[in-house]
Amino acid sequence: MKIIFLGAPGAGKGTQAEIVSKSLNIPTISTGDMIREALKTGTEMGKKAKAYMEAGDLVPDQVVIGIVKERLALDDCKNGYILDGFPRTIPQAEALDAMGADIDCVIDIEVKDEVIINRMSGRRVCEKCGKTYHTENNPSKIEGVCDACTGALIQRKDDHIDTVKKRLETYHKETEPLKGYYEAQGKLIEVEGKDGKGSIEATHALIMEALNNR
Ligand code: AP5
Ligand code: MG
Ligand code: ZN
Repeated sequence: MKIIFLGAPGAGKGTQAEIVSKSLNIPTISTGDMIREALKTGTEMGKKAKAYMEAGDLVPDQVVIGIVKERLALDDCKNGYILDGFPRTIPQAEALDAMGADIDCVIDIEVKDEVIINRMSGRRVCEKCGKTYHTENNPSKIEGVCDACTGALIQRKDDHIDTVKKRLETYHKETEPLKGYYEAQGKLIEVEGKDGKGSIEATHALIMEALNNR
């Protein structure tokens, strides 16, 4: 199955993708994680992306489309995949269609902006493996230490309040129109509802139900 996870920054795309990936045994392709990795290793692409990312802006379409195209051509994508954070603009969605991706469904995780701001301030990520936690909603067993690899938990640079507000603005302007794009293709499924009250487990249950009822 080929699934897109759509939603505002901090809606829980990465958290849900990690769980669904395991249960369906398909890889998650997160453009955010790929760009952060490129930044860490200092590749040309990472250098180009740095300023955009840290300002809460989108990295130019051509850069992102290029890395996704390469990634989807790898063997492990043959039986399907989850796209987390891509596409994020209409031109990216059109490029994905032009690649012949033939997406099965688009799960839109709806969460209100106020809830997002709280989630982002409590988010911590493992410096080593990238696993995501939340200080209250999903804490690690030992504070500041990753359960999976014992790496140190840090705050993402773009999770500071001003950058989060900028990312939300970018989301509403550039990414939200994708809902209409995929609705017109009959692929859009909204989960969680506007109040964003769903816990990680409750949202996961809604996603699995939506996937099973397709
Ligand atoms: P990216 O890394 O994709 O960031 P994002 O889309 O802004 O989304 P996040 O990773 O912040 O949120 P998430 O939805 O994954 O939430 P999470 O599961 O962590 O992109 C970063 C940057 O890279 C962009 O700003 C851009 O510059 C660039 N970029 C990436 N892709 C691009 C593209 N295609 N085109 C152009 N530029 C691109 O959850 C958040 C927190 O909430 C966690 O702490 C979690 O534990 C907690 N939580 C999750 N679900 C729940 C719940 N149900 N209840 C309570 N807490 C919850
Ligand atoms: Mg994420
Ligand atoms: Zn780790």
